[in-house]
Amino acid sequence: MSPASPARSSTSCVPTAGAPCSTPPARETRPYAPPSRPARRSPTAPEDVLVTTGSQQALTLVATALLEPGDTVLVEEPAYLSAIQCFQLAGARLVAVPSDADGPDVEQLISLIQSEKPKLFYLVPTFQNPTGRTLSAARREAIARSAGQHGVWIVEDDPYTELRYDGAPIPPIAAHPAAADRTILLGSFSKIVAPGLRLGCSAPPPGCAPP
Ligand SMILES: Cc1ncc(COP(=O)(O)O)c(C=O)c1O
Repeated sequence: MSPASPARSSTSCVPTAGAPCSTPPARETRPYAPPSRPARRSPTAPEDVLVTTGSQQALTLVATALLEPGDTVLVEEPAYLSAIQCFQLAGARLVAVPSDADGPDVEQLISLIQSEKPKLFYLVPTFQNPTGRTLSAARREAIARSAGQHGVWIVEDDPYTELRYDGAPIPPIAAHPAAADRTILLGSFSKIVAPGLRLGCSAPPPGCAPP
């Protein structure tokens, strides 16, 4: 993948301040991780969620918060195009993790973590865009352990989970204790309500969301 680094001012993904979701009523109306769905992520308190104008803004905020120009970002191969563009706008150097039908290859991931010293690893574990693949629970756990051991942030983009029509939901990487303190889980209503409803959220590790 080309290490192109367009200037931050070249539009398309414009960093904004986001919506800190500071009022308790707004937080309590957030249905993202209620106790009735503990498999999604446990625990996620309302104050640990940042409401955004969709996943795209959450990605932009993550890039702004975590990346300096020249930082390395690992992405699964192939990766969601707008995420690539977002990280490139932040000046990141992108490196693709070779993947098979079940998702990123964990041995290759570990090898790239050691050689490239990335700041974060971006992936879409469920119904991935563009492949549609879903990572098994075992592969998610292996990725969580690898990131946890090597101190790499995971950006888990998860807008499609609710579109499952059969089979049991697979807990997100963010639910694994090995990576719970370094996984940022992104959600969106754009796939389950309407793309024009610009509403999503970012759930960083507990205690990391702005007050
Ligand atoms: C993987 C992935 N992440 C994020 C988005 C953008 O979601 P939103 O409309 O919430 O910004 C998309 C949209 O296609 C997507 O496929």
